[in-house]
Amino acid sequence: MSELLDLALRVAARSARFLEDGWARREVVATKSSSTDIVTQMDQGSERLLVDHILAARPDDGIIGEEGSDRAGTTGVRWVIDPLDGTVNYLYGFPSWAVSVGVLVDGKPTYGVVHAPALRTVWHGTAGESAFANERPIRTGHVSELSSALLATGFGYEAGVRAIQGGIVAELLPRVRDIRRAGAAAVDMCWVAQGVLDGYFERGTHLWDRAAAMAICDGAGVRVGGFDGPAADRMTIATNPALFDELHDTLRALGADREYD
Ligand code: IPD
Repeated sequence: MSELLDLALRVAARSARFLEDGWARREVVATKSSSTDIVTQMDQGSERLLVDHILAARPDDGIIGEEGSDRAGTTGVRWVIDPLDGTVNYLYGFPSWAVSVGVLVDGKPTYGVVHAPALRTVWHGTAGESAFANERPIRTGHVSELSSALLATGFGYEAGVRAIQGGIVAELLPRVRDIRRAGAAAVDMCWVAQGVLDGYFERGTHLWDRAAAMAICDGAGVRVGGFDGPAADRMTIATNPALFDELHDTLRALGADREYD
């Protein structure tokens, strides 16, 4: 196994244990884009642990993290970390939350680990090669029609944006098998990689929400993209290759690509 992937697995496991062990001490310490966009001291502690351990092993790499880490590095390797994806779930004890550790090599999501203790699942993958859930190889599903697809999505933290996203979901719902909103983008994407979901789409994610899961999705045969190009904050779509265009075009027809934030 690549040295980078091995390190990603080890640091994610350590932060996941920290979050599990410290659950009873969780406490909201700040809000970000809105009063519902929270940070707990556990997000911050988890990011510190990740950064310390990554830099101890690879002092010249770059790191970007949700809670503010931003270091350029000189090696062409950049770690993209979400120390606690699904913070609201974690706060409530809803099990879909994870530590997400992605490794970009020359800008490309190459290795990913998504460690979800309350789901008892660790996904890992290498872009273009393979992906695993708890060490077992995974592959995305085969559903090729939107009308039969089980999708997941997520919503932003601002009320006005949510109102528009809710309108789009209301129009999409009668055209699909069903839609889930489980609350952690990295986990949603790994479920697509595993065939537990047929597709995922969301506007407003950040690189740290998706980098690790993108490598895992790629290793599992998922197509990940945005509107007419790569996945971006503006839109991330992840489905098996046969479903991608229909979901992409439907979202566009519903106006999901218009300016609203
Ligand atoms: C959030 C979760 C959520 C998604 C949001 C993300 P956070 O990450 O992944 O599912 O809908 O877009 O910001 O804030 O819990 O790390």
